[in-house]
Amino acid sequence: MNLRIGYGEDSHALSDGRPLVIGGVKIKSPVGAVAHSDGDVLLHALSDALLSAFALGDIGSYFPPSDPQFKDMDSQKILEHILLEVHKHVQGLKIHNVAAMVILDKPKLGNYRQAIQENVANLLGLGKSDVGVTFKTSEGLAMKHIQARVTLLLST
Ligand code: C5P
Ligand code: MG
Repeated sequence: MNLRIGYGEDSHALSDGRPLVIGGVKIKSPVGAVAHSDGDVLLHALSDALLSAFALGDIGSYFPPSDPQFKDMDSQKILEHILLEVHKHVQGLKIHNVAAMVILDKPKLGNYRQAIQENVANLLGLGKSDVGVTFKTSEGLAMKHIQARVTLLLST
C-alpha cells in the first residue's frame, strides 16, 4: 500500500451579517466569513489537503478567486470538483481518515460537531468515525478570524 499524507489550511476574516458555514453546515452566528465563495474554511482546507497529497496544486488553480462564476459558491461543490480531479489523476485512491481543527473564538461549535463530522464523512464517502473535528479558540487573540487545519491519511 502506497500511503500519502495530505495537509491543508485556510483562514478568513469574520464580518457582521455574513453566513458562517463550516464543513457544509450552516452555523447560527452574527458574524461569518468574508469570502468570494461561502467561505467554508474547513472544506477549503480539506480540498487543499487532497490536492497537496498528490502534488496537484491548490484550489486557487481550479477556482481562481477572481472568477465571478465562483461568487458565493457552495464549497461542497468545490470539494466535489476537487475529488473528481484527484480521482482523475490517482488510480485506486482511498481516503482512510480526516483529522480537522477549526479555530474560532465565537460562537462555540461543540453542538455542531456531530453534524459537521457526519456531513464531511458523507461528502467523502467515509464512515462516521473516520472524520474527527476539534475546536479551539484563539484565547481572544484573533476574534475576527476563523481558521481550519486539516490532515488526511490516504493510500493508492
Ligand atoms: O481554545 P480552548 O482550549 O480554550 O477551547 C476550549 C474548548 O472549547 C475546546 O476544547 C472546545 O471543546 C471548545 N470550543 C468550542 N467552540 C469553539 C472553540 C472552542 O466548542 N469555537
Ligand atoms: Mg477559503
